Amino acid sequence: MREGEAAVYAAPAADGADRAWLAQLWRDGWGGDPMYSGGRVHHLARLEAFIAWEAGRRVGAATYAPPEDGVAELVSLDALVPGRGVGSLLLQAVSDAVRARGGRALKVVTTNDNLDALGFYQRRGFRLMALRPGAVDVARRHKPTIPLVGRHGIPVRDELVLIAELAGEEPSSFPDSGGDDGAAPGS
Ligand SMILES: CC(C)(COP(=O)(O)OP(=O)(O)OC[C@H]1O[C@@H](n2cnc3c(N)ncnc32)[C@H](O)[C@@H]1OP(=O)(O)O)[C@@H](O)C(=O)NCCC(=O)NCCS
Repeated sequence: MREGEAAVYAAPAADGADRAWLAQLWRDGWGGDPMYSGGRVHHLARLEAFIAWEAGRRVGAATYAPPEDGVAELVSLDALVPGRGVGSLLLQAVSDAVRARGGRALKVVTTNDNLDALGFYQRRGFRLMALRPGAVDVARRHKPTIPLVGRHGIPVRDELVLIAELAGEEPSSFPDSGGDDGAAPGS
């Protein structure tokens, strides 16, 4: 946070107004619930979520799926005010929650057009783990709201999986780095 800016903090999402706001956020940003990522279908509304607040306004949100074999998945991350620390704060909140639940690593799936997210995650300790060519094209058959052309005018086709070890160790093994599992990923 810079001087003169209101403090941003993250809090677990509550029922009611928080959940209604999240549903709208996902409609606007991700073409609605569910999300297809990592070869799985995630129903965002059923996931644990954190909301970022600034001066009484909701300014971002993150959802995650709890650890399986020690690895949790960050399923969605949205900062409505970019470059002000909202994404970092939410990532930290999710990492802390996953660690508290016994997780040792956090995985995230993004798409080939999301150059900003690829930089954001890699600057925060994430390593590339898998590339799933054509995975978004498969997901789009299930979720036609996934755009054909994404950020920076790049066709959205492929899925990239990144992982960060929460204990600060070098990733030594990637439990689910197998190639195409035939399921729908992506957005
Ligand atoms: C990717 C995304 C979540 C990043 O969120 P963000 O809030 O912009 O991220 P942050 O502000 O924490 O960090 C971005 C930069 O701002 C800088 N920053 C942090 N706090 C800051 C502050 N108070 N003032 C100015 N800059 C600041 C950080 O240093 C960071 O730079 P770095 O990455 O070079 O280290 C955001 O761009 C987003 O919502 N994108 C659209 C949705 C999306 O693609 N989500 C990911 C799906 S996989």
